[in-house]
Amino acid sequence: MMIFLLAQKGNWNFWKNIKFNDMKSLVIFYSFEGSTKLIGETIAQKIGAELLEIKPEKEIGSHGFMKYFWGGRQAMMKLTPRLVPFSKNFEEYDLLIIGTPVWAFDMTPAIRTFLHDYNFINKKVAIFCCYEGNMGKALSEMNKLLAGNQIIGQEDFRDVRKKEKENISKAENWSATLLN
Ligand SMILES: Cc1cc2nc3c(=O)[nH]c(=O)nc-3n(C[C@H](O)[C@H](O)[C@H](O)COP(=O)(O)O)c2cc1C
Repeated sequence: MMIFLLAQKGNWNFWKNIKFNDMKSLVIFYSFEGSTKLIGETIAQKIGAELLEIKPEKEIGSHGFMKYFWGGRQAMMKLTPRLVPFSKNFEEYDLLIIGTPVWAFDMTPAIRTFLHDYNFINKKVAIFCCYEGNMGKALSEMNKLLAGNQIIGQEDFRDVRKKEKENISKAENWSATLLN
């Protein structure tokens, strides 16, 4: 460890990215096509958080045009599909960062299930969403389901795939503010 740190002596980029914090954080996300995953991973790397990717037991079957129909329908009906089981003790974390793609101007069904099933209270939480044109009420609906917690930040990322660099840098800057 000591040798590694000495080797970074003149590497300003290394030191500037280091955050000395003892907060234990977890980034929880669902991602159908990778954008929310990219942002979640960027945040986790920047602040040294762990990652939890949640998945519905039954994913929507199409990546073509029909995904809008099947996914949009689930979101509009506020369905809460069963999730693939995972084991995490959320009590261990000081900060939870929860991310969702926007579907039909709302959060995704998988994230809705997650917020229903794990009824957090008195937790520090930050939320984000990824979308293409109109994020609608995704973040405000998440806020409602997280009532009783302290929402310390919220951010939206538009056109992640088209504007990858810009969004990665936005995610890095935003995540740094969550540790203040
Ligand atoms: C079923 C479905 C519904 C969507 N609805 C919206 C929407 O209402 N508003 C919007 O801006 N983008 C919408 N999108 C686009 C996604 O929010 C956007 O591509 C997002 O970055 C995808 O995240 P992911 O790659 O992590 O799955 C929708 C995508 C799908 C598949």
